Amino acid sequence: MEIRPETAEDHGLVGLLYRQAFVGNYEAELVDALRDAGEARIVLVATEGDELIGHILFAAVGIRIGDRPVATLALAEMAVHADQQGRGIGGRLVAAGLAAARAQAVEAVVVLGHPTYYPRFGFSAELARRLRTPFRGGEAFMALPLAPGALEGDMGVVTYPSAFQIGRRPR
Ligand SMILES: CC(C)(COP(=O)(O)OP(=O)(O)OC[C@H]1O[C@@H](n2cnc3c(N)ncnc32)[C@H](O)[C@@H]1OP(=O)(O)O)[C@@H](O)C(=O)NCCC(=O)NCCS
Repeated sequence: MEIRPETAEDHGLVGLLYRQAFVGNYEAELVDALRDAGEARIVLVATEGDELIGHILFAAVGIRIGDRPVATLALAEMAVHADQQGRGIGGRLVAAGLAAARAQAVEAVVVLGHPTYYPRFGFSAELARRLRTPFRGGEAFMALPLAPGALEGDMGVVTYPSAFQIGRRPR
């Protein structure tokens, strides 16, 4: 299994992967919209031979804590092919994405996702309660500081690019 940056040749298979992993088109369309809007910052695929078995996309978002902007990405979408789940591929995609984010001096990452999956990577719903977001996430909205103290201070405000507004199930 190899993890590498997504290329334009992968786009078709990535769309199929999301349509297989989720009911409906929302996730595939969000991936396309974030790419088209130039908001996709880290996009990785997992492949095995000719098969594309996993994908992850981190998008640009903004956090402001008081006057301080915090360089932040959202883990916007990820999927692993149903036949390949539970083999650690998702974990390796998240780890590779976070390593790339650290290399880009990203200070924090947020996610709106499965509340029992992302804490294993350090994401915290408790920390995210200090951030105001346009989405109602509850325990599913989690934050991970990559730089010490990145999320400390006053209540923070998260702003998402408009591509997140497509469809009716934003995450
Ligand atoms: C969530 C997903 C990306 C995980 O990928 P994966 O390669 O199966 O993950 P890993 O093998 O690294 O980890 C497996 C663990 O994830 C957990 N997991 C899988 N789906 C989960 C879910 N919906 N909620 C909570 N935990 C989940 C498994 O229970 C397993 O836990 P364990 O290690 O304690 O046994 C994959 O299941 C998937 O694509 N699901 C459908 C699409 C989706 O839900 N995407 C994420 C949107 S937030």
